[in-house]
Amino acid sequence: MRIIRAKDYDHMSRQAANIISAQVILKPDCVLGLATGSSPIGTYRQLIEWYKKGDIDFERVRTVNLDEYVGLGCSDEQSYTRFMRRNLFDSINIDLANTHIPNGKNPDAKSECDRYDSVIRTLGGIDLQLLGLGPNGHIGFNEPGECFQKGTHMVALSSETISANKRFFEAESDVPRFAYTMGICDIMQAQRVVMVVSGAAKADIVKAAFFGPITPKVPASVLQLHRDFTLVADEDALSMI
Ligand code: F6R
Repeated sequence: MRIIRAKDYDHMSRQAANIISAQVILKPDCVLGLATGSSPIGTYRQLIEWYKKGDIDFERVRTVNLDEYVGLGCSDEQSYTRFMRRNLFDSINIDLANTHIPNGKNPDAKSECDRYDSVIRTLGGIDLQLLGLGPNGHIGFNEPGECFQKGTHMVALSSETISANKRFFEAESDVPRFAYTMGICDIMQAQRVVMVVSGAAKADIVKAAFFGPITPKVPASVLQLHRDFTLVADEDALSMI
């Protein structure tokens, strides 16, 4: 595990964007695993800036997103499909046909999870997976539990996650209760994993995840076992370690 200490959110975002852009430059048809939420927005903003300057080319890049709310799709403003278009895809030269996100509109969980796992397999796995860290230690929507779930699965969101994500919705009751998420095995099989974390509110969970025992009760703790894991965090998020 490597830790990059950043001064603040903007610095964290630039550091993470540097790692991602190096990946794209070295392997122009790489597979990027992408995340949503507040943490990666600055990283995407930086990548867009470098794309506009002509420094990075996304023409051949393929992407797989971590997760999507069950019931939401591209016509829903709060869907992760729309998030990705708004915060990255619509501002770079990526071919949308090369971008993959679980289909929250498929009510058949088994067929959707099998389909998504086969998308990841067909792409040949993930070269670089970008992650945020949930306040309860979740990665993707792999919530704390009794065991690590291997592949893509449907998950009931924890009350903590629903409460943390209500800021993106008009009311807490609007937050979907279920999501499709990549599994821990999909994430652990990525060649390289980069996590962005900022803010004092995440300091305790950063300590528990990366300086505590490896346990499915803190899903991110499994990353201690990854062969190429980089935590890019600002000083506030690292204040407990
Ligand atoms: C989003 C995702 C989640 C978030 C996590 C942190 O695709 O997979 O695990 O990364 O909930 O969210 P923020 O960055 O909003 O604190």
